[in-house]
Amino acid sequence: MTDYFKNKASDWDSPMKVDMSGRFVEEMVSNVKFNKSVKAMDLGCGTGLVGLSIVNEIKSLIMVDNSKAMIDKLKEKLEEIEQNSKTALKEKVKIINGSVDKYTTKDLDVVFSLMAIHHIDNIDALLEHISKILKPGGVLIIGDLCEEDGSFHGEESVPHNGFNIESLSKQMEECDLDIVTTYTYNTIKKNNRDYDQFIIIAKKI
Ligand SMILES: C[S@@+](CC[C@H](N)C(=O)[O-])C[C@H]1O[C@@H](n2cnc3c(N)ncnc32)[C@H](O)[C@@H]1O
Repeated sequence: MTDYFKNKASDWDSPMKVDMSGRFVEEMVSNVKFNKSVKAMDLGCGTGLVGLSIVNEIKSLIMVDNSKAMIDKLKEKLEEIEQNSKTALKEKVKIINGSVDKYTTKDLDVVFSLMAIHHIDNIDALLEHISKILKPGGVLIIGDLCEEDGSFHGEESVPHNGFNIESLSKQMEECDLDIVTTYTYNTIKKNNRDYDQFIIIAKKI
């Protein structure tokens, strides 16, 4: 399988990406209560910019990504955090290098995902699977690009040039994921263009 992030992983944590993930985390925590009983998943976790910001607030975290390079970088960061802060993060964090359907236990309180689902072709299958692994009342939080003209990724082609919120909401509702809220929360500047990011929060029925 081609690792599209092979050459991006080592310098992924740029100030721009740190800022982007920080904004998403701010929105997440202002909408959803995280506490020490929460079992969560960071889907398409990359180097862990989102998951590692929240891991100390929760019980446990499953970090899923199909890029070996991103996962290797994440593992390096975990080692570093453990050494510097003497916290036993590895006991709380389970890493899955693969796609989300490798995780089948129906025990998650929260699944969150930033800028990953536009890389995933079959959104219906993805949402169906997420709906299965969330407990009833569990919460899905997605942050991604609003519909764009494909210029965000330049020459690279990805399965989705952002999302139409109305269509995505319908797809979620069809998978027993009731929309709680959705709004645009950020604008990214790239190559002198503006790209809006949305957040969508849904609750498993
Ligand atoms: C744009 S990066 C975002 C990474 C991270 N969430 C962040 O905000 O920094 C997208 C990530 O999704 C991962 N990804 C893409 N398709 C995936 C799939 N089918 N299953 C798991 N991860 C996937 C990629 O490997 C990549 O690390």
